[in-house]
Amino acid sequence: MTQPLQIGVLGSGPAGQTLATGFLEKGHPVMIGSRDSTKLSGWLRHAGRGAQVGTFAETAQFGELVVLSVLGSAAEEVIRLAGVENFTGKIMIDASDPLDFSSGQPGLFVGTTDSLGERIQRLIPDAYVVKGLNVVQADVMINPRLTGDEPDMFIAGNMTRRSKRSPSSSQSSAGR
Ligand SMILES: NC(=O)c1ccc[n+]([C@@H]2O[C@H](COP(=O)([O-])OP(=O)(O)OC[C@H]3O[C@@H](n4cnc5c(N)ncnc54)[C@H](OP(=O)(O)O)[C@@H]3O)[C@@H](O)[C@H]2O)c1
Repeated sequence: MTQPLQIGVLGSGPAGQTLATGFLEKGHPVMIGSRDSTKLSGWLRHAGRGAQVGTFAETAQFGELVVLSVLGSAAEEVIRLAGVENFTGKIMIDASDPLDFSSGQPGLFVGTTDSLGERIQRLIPDAYVVKGLNVVQADVMINPRLTGDEPDMFIAGNMTRRSKRSPSSSQSSAGR
């Protein structure tokens, strides 16, 4: 197993709980953040050792790595509630979708010249935002059992392996 890493999962929905359970199974201590931690009492009862729940701010502080898995339209508000300063120098995996169903059809509230990943990177310029996991259903986010070869997961961010620059000064190519 890799070195245990404290992981903060911002988001109490099906995706957040699936990811949190998966990280625990891989040996990482996990805190899930919510505005209402009582809704996670069932998850906490079954999650076992290393599982905690907290506020969004407590979870962002706890996480050496932070995962954002909240309703896309609330993502920026959740980051503000979590405290922008609590993301400094950390990797943040943004698994949220900028979906807009207000017209009855699924659309993107970020339009076609911006992305939620880029909006989040602008909000927390001193974090390393990685867009990922959002393109698959929660039930295949951890240890997917699919036919064929090992599946690939597309990720996007504004840091290259060789980049020495801070995230805020790197050219953005964050995904949606
Ligand atoms: N479910 C999937 O299979 C799946 C797959 C891929 C991507 N995604 C994406 O992952 C994200 C999470 O999806 P989900 O299905 O787990 O649950 P969800 O219902 O989309 O999101 C639940 C989370 O959003 C937060 N939230 C909702 N409205 C809020 C508001 N006004 N202010 C602050 N926080 C708010 C909730 O906070 P509280 O805990 O405080 O209520 C909760 O933590 C979404 O962006 C979704 O599109 C989901």
